[in-house]
Amino acid sequence: MSRITGVRGMNDISPTESATWHFVEATAREVLRCYGYREMRPPLVERTELFRRSVGEATDIVEKEMYTFADRNGDSLSLRPECTASCVRAAVEHGWLRAGGQRIWTIGPMFRYERPQKGRYRQFHQLDVEALGFSGPDVDAELILICARLFARLGLGRLRLQLNSLGSRSSQARYRDALVRYFAHHRDRLDEDSERRLATNPLRILDSKDPAMQELIDCAPRITDFLDDESAAHLQGLTDMLDRAGTSWTLNARLVRGLDYYTGPVFEWQTEELGAQNAVCGGGRYDHLIEDIGGSGAPATGFAMGLERIVALLEQQSLAPPPPCPDAYLVAVGGEAQREAHRLAETLRDRVDSLSLTVDAAGGSFRTKLKRADRSGARYALILGDAEVRDARVGVKALRDESEQRSMRQSALAEFLRG
Ligand code: HAM
Repeated sequence: MSRITGVRGMNDISPTESATWHFVEATAREVLRCYGYREMRPPLVERTELFRRSVGEATDIVEKEMYTFADRNGDSLSLRPECTASCVRAAVEHGWLRAGGQRIWTIGPMFRYERPQKGRYRQFHQLDVEALGFSGPDVDAELILICARLFARLGLGRLRLQLNSLGSRSSQARYRDALVRYFAHHRDRLDEDSERRLATNPLRILDSKDPAMQELIDCAPRITDFLDDESAAHLQGLTDMLDRAGTSWTLNARLVRGLDYYTGPVFEWQTEELGAQNAVCGGGRYDHLIEDIGGSGAPATGFAMGLERIVALLEQQSLAPPPPCPDAYLVAVGGEAQREAHRLAETLRDRVDSLSLTVDAAGGSFRTKLKRADRSGARYALILGDAEVRDARVGVKALRDESEQRSMRQSALAEFLRG
């Protein structure tokens, strides 16, 4: 039979890698608890209209990267390419904001039909954090400080914070006009994609990776020269707070982000260690999205972190924890011993808190079974033969040092393993 393989760009997380994922997830969970954020879990599938209206019709994500399908009713649904829209949809739908601002987070897979390469996948995972209903720069600062604390707890250094402001909608409109005038004047130097974006989404031209266009982009008008007083003051308030908290940042007037809902400050954490896919986290303020999705207007801000990229950095910097090993590995030899093994194992699990005990399940000789015990990484092999069953005893062999195998009463084993 031919072998069925996984879908391109959608990866398996192996039993060896999952310890690193657990480490990242547990650390994130703990850091977010420290800041008073609460977890929510939106579905993976939403109405396509949600992403059209939030992420934006003229973005790469909506134009060419969504997994969109009609369900059996004919409704157009999409696998979520991101989950800010879902968090906002849920908050509006369930009236969460009636109780005041909401600090929420969620974690899980997102789907984008991008060209897969190192660090860029079609199914990838984000830690997504959203602060809904807060207007001040203090909450933007809080989100950035959460990222910094999470990186520090994971042991990750060398990440750079890039900041920009996309300004209010009126600042953005004035900037857009200036950009269109500028790029239209240099139309002959635009590549095909940028030519198209000139009509649909001129800000995205700034994000072009085409080397031939870099000089043109470098000389383009800068958003920071178009900010109205309020947007400029908001950015200033944010940078002041970051300075006081000792978090360094760089202003990057070319940082435009790939989603249309942003207004005000936006940011990205970048690394030089992952090649082209250098953004490990991105976010910003989106003060109109709640209203655009049908809620009564409220400001909001948030970020999402790409977990594959965080895991890759941990592995690259040798910070990934080793895969967990069982404390003990039970080897049963003989018919009666094999029938008895699970009873003994269950008793031990009842009596020793958080004991990790593997019961050997494959056949083979005693020697083979002991080899498997050793390969499991367990500290002890517990050896149960028919004679041990008869005498209510068990053999205990230390696998990580040279000490002698000994025989022990089964009733003493729990105490021994606890020690
Ligand atoms: P984003 O910049 O599209 O923002 O994604 C955030 C992060 O997800 C990126 O910095 C990157 O680490 C990771 N990422 C994105 N696409 C891929 C991919 N194809 N493969 C692997 N990792 C990827 C958002 O999604 C916004 N919803 C963030 C946000 C939340 N803004 C406000 N609240």
